Parts: sequence; structure tokens; C-alpha cells
Amino acid sequence: MSIDAGFISIAAAVVVCFSAFLFYKYPDSGFLDPPRKSIPYKKGLPLLGNLVETVINIDRYYEYVCDIYEELDTFTFRFTQPLIPSLTNTVDPKNVEHILKTNFENYEKGPYFNKLMYDLVGNGIFGTDGEVWRVQRKVASRIFHVKNFRDKFTRVFLDQINIAAMHVFDKAAEENQVIDFHDIMLRFTMDSFAQIGFSVQLNSLISRAEFADSFDALQMHAFRRFLIPFTDTIERIKHYTHYWAERKSIQQHVSTVNSFAYGIIQERRKKDLLHHDEDSDSDLLHRFMTCKNVDGNYLSDTDLRDTVLNFIIAGRDTTALALSWTFYNLLMHPEIEEKVLQEVQHYITDDIESDPVRLYETVQKMTYTHAVFYEVLRLYPSVPGEQKEALNDDVWPDGTQIRKGDQISWQPFVQGRITGIWGADAKEFKPQRWISDEGSLIRVSPYQWTAFNAGPRVCLGQNLATLEAIIAISFMLKRYKFKRVEGHQVIILNLITLSMKDGMKITVEKRQ
Ligand code: HEM
Repeated sequence: MSIDAGFISIAAAVVVCFSAFLFYKYPDSGFLDPPRKSIPYKKGLPLLGNLVETVINIDRYYEYVCDIYEELDTFTFRFTQPLIPSLTNTVDPKNVEHILKTNFENYEKGPYFNKLMYDLVGNGIFGTDGEVWRVQRKVASRIFHVKNFRDKFTRVFLDQINIAAMHVFDKAAEENQVIDFHDIMLRFTMDSFAQIGFSVQLNSLISRAEFADSFDALQMHAFRRFLIPFTDTIERIKHYTHYWAERKSIQQHVSTVNSFAYGIIQERRKKDLLHHDEDSDSDLLHRFMTCKNVDGNYLSDTDLRDTVLNFIIAGRDTTALALSWTFYNLLMHPEIEEKVLQEVQHYITDDIESDPVRLYETVQKMTYTHAVFYEVLRLYPSVPGEQKEALNDDVWPDGTQIRKGDQISWQPFVQGRITGIWGADAKEFKPQRWISDEGSLIRVSPYQWTAFNAGPRVCLGQNLATLEAIIAISFMLKRYKFKRVEGHQVIILNLITLSMKDGMKITVEKRQ
């Protein structure tokens, strides 16, 4: 045997032995991510762990995660993956309370989350922790007071739903058009929030903004980054190969979204120079333009870009999805639609329709419609899963040992569907479960029903979103009968939010 052949044989033997050792060490888990004794885990492939299954199930990720909880019959389990941090998942309300409230200081979004979400959220409220987050939360919370709700926000929602009626629904009814309800809801919530938060009229209900597609593409990209290694590289290859050459690159999407956000800031500055009015002097953007950050400086345009995009994520997608899933469920359950319609007709009389102050007060009395909205968010939470990082070792109430630096996750989507939490009928759509024998709304622990998050980072817009949704549901139901389009299936698409794969196609009839 020559020296070269001998060397090759030895090298091959070393590779085979090392591979055999790796296969022996990681027979069903990700490379460098062995199972931990005390935590149930989902057995996967040697070295790849759960990667392949995750890729296959990416569009139905949270349904897949729900299947695993049920298969392992557990409230807490670990995923193992090579090359991305493994996840400890839980739906146990006691653990969730511990993470979100009791030991809040130990769990932050952290640098990993911030890096993967940076294109979209930058240093805005969703991606930051500590003092930077606290200052933003304090500034933003100042717009959420009863006077604004009653005198300003209700009027905005009324105006925008009237625009939707005039420019979309009436036309669709008259011309017998098929429309994508989900897309219309995104435009409605976008225009409403732009007016409330930035005092800007976008009119995307009248003509669709290019921004929307880029915003959705960035969301999908960010979601995949959390679950699939080398997502950025895959995206680049797709962009540069011939087949995908038409597609915009992620950087081009970022530019589109940035131009949109900077456009809003510029328009707002111009408006401030021309005239002052009480409404826009106290809106969200104005408050951020006139506040100082932790260094004592006014916010830069980049900071303001982050603010605009974070609040669009908060104000547009979440509520639009909640409305889309509400009408999906009403169309699937005509008897429930009929009950909501009866409540709407009882409370929203013609004189109340045009009186925002009375409308705001009346909406609070609509128990059944609230129950429907909460039930939708139980089964179809707009934010289906959440992730944070442990700053130090910790032990959860169920005994799970968490190590410093671990990524941990809880899933509102799964929490809503697990029989161990909601009983045998967990997967059924039953608004009645939210109503007590006395007819009032039942308050459920926010650690069991986490649709709006809980603890110090509870959603700031919970009341705003609920008001917007109930007004929109009432006005649309009162005026129109929507119908499903035969052959069109509404399918969940998992992004950062719980989206609809091909939207929701409907036809519209005016009610007499
Ligand atoms: C149905 C509608 C909505 C749902 C289901 C929802 C849900 C949530 C959830 C789950 C979070 C936690 C996200 C995270 O930390 O990663 C959150 C945070 C937040 N939401 Fe909402 N949201 C809704 C509407 C709104 C609206 C209309 C606003 C308006 C401004 C808003 C403002 C915020 C803000 C500012 C935060 C960040 C809170 C913080 O980190 O301190 N949300 N929301």
C-alpha cells in the first residue's frame, strides 16, 4: 500500500468512527443538543433532531406543535435542532405565569430574538428589553385613556368602516364581485391605526399600498428564521436563481417598508409645521417625536421608523386577523352569527350609529359579541406563539430545569386547544363558555388565555382592539350578509401572526 492510500484509509476510518460516535451520541436529537433528563422531548432524526419535521410542517407549525403536546401527553417539552438554539415549550398556565409575571426579570426578548426580528422591529417596543423598552411603553401608554377612546378612536373606526362600506362592500354587492375579506380587514385596520397613531390618512381601503406585500414578506422571513437554520442563505439563493429572479430580495422589501415609514414621518413633520390641532398634538407619533430616549436625546428618524413599524405590526395585523377569523367562524356557524346579529340589532340602533360617545358606551354592554371575539382569540390567537430567553438558571413551577441562555416558548394557539386546559370540548367553537349563568362575561386567567399576553408586557392595545373589532363586527353584520365562495378553503398560514394562506374569499349581499 502506498503512503497516500494508507493515509486515505486512516482518514476514512476516523471519519466513520467519528460519525458512528455522533450517531451514537445524538441518535434522535440535534447535533450538540442532547435531550435533558427531566424534560420530555420529541424524538427526531440522528443529528438533525426535529429539523426535517419542522421544515415539512412550517406552514402549519402551531398545529404540528399542538399534535406533539398531545402525542407526548405533556404540558412541557423540548424541541431539539442542530444549528439553532433548542426550544423548551410550555403551555402550563403556572409556568406561563412564572415567565410572564413572577420571574419576569429573568426572561427577556434578548439579543437572539432582536437579531432575527431586527429588519422589522429594529429597536422598537417589540424587540427591546430593560430601560429602552420601559421608556417606550410609558410614552405609548399615554394615548390609551378613556377620553381618547370615547371622543376620538370610536369616531375613527366609524369613519373607516363607512369608507370600507362605500368603496368595497357596497360595490362588491352591486357588482356581485368575489372579494378577499382578509385583505380588506388588513386595509381597514391599517388605515384606522394610521389615523389614530400618526394622524395620517392612508386611504389604503381605496387603493392598496405596495407596502403591504413587503411587510408580509418580512414577517414570513422572520418567522422562518426562528425555525430553520440558514434561512437568510436559502432566501438569497432563491432570489438569485433564475426561477425566482422576479422576486424582491429581503433587502428590497426592507427598503420598501422603510420608505413607507419614513414617508409617514415626513408627512407628519410637514403637517406639524403647517398647523397644530389638538388631536394630532397628542397622538402616538407626536409623543414619540417629542420624548427623549434613555440617553436624554430626542429620537432619531431611525428610532421613529422603528416606532412606526412596531405600532403597525401591533395595530394592523393582529386586529385584522382577529376580525377575519371572527367572520370565518360566523360563516361556519350560522346559528352563532344569528345570535350576534340579534344583539347588534338590539343595541346598535340607527341613532347610536352616528353618535360615537353613546356608541362607545353601548359597545361595552354587548356581552355575546365580546364572548364571540374572545372565543375566536382562544382558538385563533393573532399571535400564536411567543419566545423569550432565560437570563439565569431557573426552575419552573412544574419542576422543569431551565438553563441560562435557554430559548423558551409558550403558545397561545396550543393553550386554547388543549383538553387538559379547556376540557373535552376545547377544540369546539363555543362562545357560550365565556358567559356565566347570570349572563355576565367570565374572566379567565390571562395565563391560561394568553391571546393578549400578560404581566408587565401585556398588550397595550387590548381595549382598543376589542372596541375596533366590536364596532366593525356590528356594522358589517348589520348591513351585509357575507357568503363563502364554494371551493375556496380557508387555511391557516403560520407567520409571526396566525394568517390565512389564500385569504378568505367571500361574496356580499346587502341586508334589507
Ligand atoms: C386582537 C388584537 C390584538 C392582539 C391579539 C394582540 C396581542 C398582543 C400580544 C400577544 C402581545 C405580546 C407580543 C410580544 O411581546 O411578543 C402584544 C403586545 C403589544 N400590543 Fe397587542 N394585540 C392586539 C392589538 C393591539 C393593538 C390594536 C395595539 C395598538 C397599539 C397593540 C399594541 C401592543 C403593544 C404596544 C404591545 C407591546 C407591549 C410590550 O411589549 O410592552 N396591540 N399584543
